[in-house]
Amino acid sequence: MRIVLVGPPGAGKGTQATRLAEKLNIPHISTGDLFRANISQQTELGKLAKSYMDAGNLVPDEVTIAMAKDRMEQPDAEGGFLLDGFPRNVSQAEALDELLTTEGIKLDAVLDLEAPEEEVVKRIAGRRICRNDSAHVFHVTYKKPAKEGVCDVCGGELYQRDDDSEATVRTRLEVYHTQTEPIIDYYKTQGLVVTIEAMGPVDEVTARALAALKREGDEN
Ligand code: AP5
Ligand code: MG
Repeated sequence: MRIVLVGPPGAGKGTQATRLAEKLNIPHISTGDLFRANISQQTELGKLAKSYMDAGNLVPDEVTIAMAKDRMEQPDAEGGFLLDGFPRNVSQAEALDELLTTEGIKLDAVLDLEAPEEEVVKRIAGRRICRNDSAHVFHVTYKKPAKEGVCDVCGGELYQRDDDSEATVRTRLEVYHTQTEPIIDYYKTQGLVVTIEAMGPVDEVTARALAALKREGDEN
């Protein structure tokens, strides 16, 4: 399957993507995680991305699209992928469509994770991620690690993302409403959008997403 996950910062895209990718046996491709890996490796791309991310703004399309394209062209993504955080504006969605058309493939669904603003702010404020891999995600209340400050998966140090400060979160939410939400209408015209209620326990949200994907599969 080829799936796009969309939703405001803190809705649980990364959390759900990890679980869905495992169940569906497809790679989880997160442009945010790819940028963070570049930042920790201190690459030129990481240096460029950091200035935009810390301010809560989108990294320029040119570098983002090239990075996402390169990742989607890796052998493990041949049979399908789950995109988390890409596309994030209409021009990225158009670039993705172009790439898919060239390859003669199509998206199966766009899952739109919905959660109220006060909830996403709480989720972001308590989030802690692992220094070794930003896909290892915890929460000080909702998903406590067994040992405070230590990743359950690999033993790495847990820290708060630089862009999870209150001021930056406000900008990220604004950017989401103005630049990312329009892609939901873009994909609605293609009949691809399925809304997923992202409130409630993580397992229940995953079950809702899997049920929705099954319905989409049965219909097509
Ligand atoms: P990115 O890393 O994609 O961040 P985001 O979209 O702001 O989303 P988050 O990662 O903050 O939230 P999430 O929805 O993944 O939630 P999570 O599962 O962690 O992007 C960061 C930056 O990179 C952007 O601002 C931009 O600068 C740049 N960037 C990335 N892609 C780009 C692109 N395509 N173009 C340009 N720039 C780009 O969950 C949050 C917390 O809640 C966790 O602690 C989790 O444990 C907890 N939680 C999850 N689900 C539940 C639940 N059901 N109940 C209780 N707690 C829960
Ligand atoms: Mg994420």
